[in-house]
Amino acid sequence: MHINPCLFILARPPHQVVWNYERHTQFELDLHYSTRLAQLVANPLQFDIHNPIDADFLNTEIFTEEPRKPIEWNWDELSRIFHIGTKNIPCAEVPRNVDEWATLYLQHCNEVLSSPAPSPQTKTYPVGRIVLAPCTLADIRDVSLAQTLVGRSTSRSFGEHAVSIEQVGTLLYLTLGYLNERRGAREACGPDALDARRSSPSGGGLNACEGYLYVRHVTGLAPGIYAYHPDAHALSLIRPLPDEPLGHLLCGQHFINPLPFGLFLTSRFDKLWWKYQHSRAYRMAFVETGHVSQAFLMVATALGLDTWLTGALADREVEHLLGLEGTCEQPLFFVGCGHGDGQVHCKELMALIDRQEIAS
Ligand SMILES: Cc1cc2nc3c(=O)[nH]c(=O)nc-3n(C[C@H](O)[C@H](O)[C@H](O)COP(=O)(O)O)c2cc1C
Repeated sequence: MHINPCLFILARPPHQVVWNYERHTQFELDLHYSTRLAQLVANPLQFDIHNPIDADFLNTEIFTEEPRKPIEWNWDELSRIFHIGTKNIPCAEVPRNVDEWATLYLQHCNEVLSSPAPSPQTKTYPVGRIVLAPCTLADIRDVSLAQTLVGRSTSRSFGEHAVSIEQVGTLLYLTLGYLNERRGAREACGPDALDARRSSPSGGGLNACEGYLYVRHVTGLAPGIYAYHPDAHALSLIRPLPDEPLGHLLCGQHFINPLPFGLFLTSRFDKLWWKYQHSRAYRMAFVETGHVSQAFLMVATALGLDTWLTGALADREVEHLLGLEGTCEQPLFFVGCGHGDGQVHCKELMALIDRQEIAS
């Protein structure tokens, strides 16, 4: 007999829970079952089909008669558990035609709406709001999509020039703002909170992605960390800039320290949990953030700014900076822009490469 390789065990006192993450089944083991499983893991040859516990292990596929063909997975266990564990989710009822789909969809919406929607904001900010000027699109009206697509690139060499508050306003409105141009796009079965539309698509229309500004050098805006309110196109100051440079918050990528302006992108997991109660929706948090990130990069490029992005966050420090500790809103990504020489690498790395080339 062979132990199924797609299992993990959770300690949930007083039991152990064996989770088959491929089949999406879970079994609670009492002390007898847990002890027997430990014995069989230590020595599978002790498996005895006449032992009722062992027979249960076989019936539930915790053990299998034939060894499982290993799946090719060259990453770590955790990524494998998450990916396979969120694949092939069993669906109670798969609609067989569009009428059945419509009925089930409406039923799902009604079920979701029977519990209160998460509040639009996780926190309130005591300091007065800074309302940004309405975005006129004037700055980018004449820039073509083709020009922007071929012009976007990642720069790692920024200078000290400031970005203007007008550019920041345009970037925020077109990246995260709830578009005035799309107001009234109400979903027939959604609550008012799901009316808001952005330039990027949003899983379930929930707008789970939020943005926090890192302002270092923006004309018309004091340096600091700000929350963006997408409904009001406004900012709230959270705190002054930390003493440590930006690179400290981004896993030591210190070439980015001169960046004048950036945006931490977060996801409101409570919004996703409300509508989608399976962990597969976790994938959507990142997909949505990627859409928002691309919108930011495109708008910044259209404004003539150089752009940079990273997912390498010092999570604990960033959560503290944004005031998100202990909440179900999590920082996922960072995008930034400014003026630079558009170089792929900073001058320090280029100098090192040059020295190595000369030496070899
Ligand atoms: C998900 C993601 C994460 C990235 N993380 C980093 C990063 O941590 N640091 C960095 O300098 N660039 C990062 N980049 C930028 C890529 O290195 C860059 O997009 C790639 O080299 C292609 O160059 P291009 O953007 O100029 O086309 C990231 C890009 C993506 C899409």
